[in-house]
Amino acid sequence: MQRNFMHTIIGSDIETAKTWLMNGEVVAIPTETVYGLAANALHEDAVLRIFEAKNRPSFNPLIVHIANWRQAKEYVEHVPEKAKRLAVAFTPGPLTFLLQKRNTIPDLVTAGSDKVAIRIPNHPLTLELLDALDFPLAAPSANPFGYISPVTAQHVLEGLNGKIPYILDGGAATVGLESTIIGFDENEHILLYRTGGISAEQIEDLLKEKVTLSKLASEEHPETAGQLKSHYAPHTALYVGDIDELKKQFEGKRVATISFTKQFEGIDEAKQFILSDNGDIEEAAKNLFTVLRLTDKLKVDVILAEHFPDEGIGRAINDRLGRAQAVNKV
Ligand code: TXA
Ligand code: MG
Repeated sequence: MQRNFMHTIIGSDIETAKTWLMNGEVVAIPTETVYGLAANALHEDAVLRIFEAKNRPSFNPLIVHIANWRQAKEYVEHVPEKAKRLAVAFTPGPLTFLLQKRNTIPDLVTAGSDKVAIRIPNHPLTLELLDALDFPLAAPSANPFGYISPVTAQHVLEGLNGKIPYILDGGAATVGLESTIIGFDENEHILLYRTGGISAEQIEDLLKEKVTLSKLASEEHPETAGQLKSHYAPHTALYVGDIDELKKQFEGKRVATISFTKQFEGIDEAKQFILSDNGDIEEAAKNLFTVLRLTDKLKVDVILAEHFPDEGIGRAINDRLGRAQAVNKV
């Protein structure tokens, strides 16, 4: 059943968020990566409401957010030695661990998998909220399924107004891209499932070991491959490449551009978005989703984006741009 709240309230009151969550409702929460759509991870009915509000297929599992690593013991069987070292170095922070689950975690949260995704978000309001609750929070990004992840409370409201009672406003996300997701093979070698706020290089430097790129089960699911390609996608067609070349293909069309530092001739300046004037890749990452939303509202025919330097968080930017364009090309 679709739930209907007359007004979704935006506020920064932890008590209000806590009360809704204890009643099995869904609340949007701030994190350093993107806003999450949270509910009691131990309560199946509450978790179902996340899927309903987001219009997300229930075979796509959810990340479980906890306040500290002591709590993890209740939800996972075993934390590998390397995970502990990564946790000390990078958490609270944008790194999610896929670990063997205990049966305290409902199957609905993991879509039947025996592994659960665990993360400690680095946001003061959400850490305080998690501390005040006696259950962890299952939360996907707080966007309608397939659209761009929200990095402000206002973005959440744009997509989910009336579907949830409360948005806990913690300001603009400081990282701006989703967490990096890692797991372990049977030899406890690191598998990188999604690149995000912590780069592969940071993990490799710490562990002195190469990571192996891997795919999330949800992305291999044959029936959903088409849908999942549309992840992070604006409604406007988006193309990634050399903008000076691409702009020739779209002469006579209304064009917006997304670039790292560069401006382009022959395109309306008001429709050119530079993600970081001084070439700071972290700042570019932080601005990406906001700019994708802005360009999507401009009523242009196409959005042209350039490739970013393929290192560090630049790889995560390129990954998100690649996913945003895929759906428009088919
Ligand atoms: O930064 C983030 O990770 C944000 C904030 C809110 O924490 N969350 C987020 O959640 O991006 P979501 O659901 O939009 O993306 C999580 C991805 C999905 O592709 C999901 O399929 C995968 O992680 N995932 C979650 N649990 C899993 C599991 N048990 N096994 C395999 N994949 C899993
Ligand atoms: Mg998402």
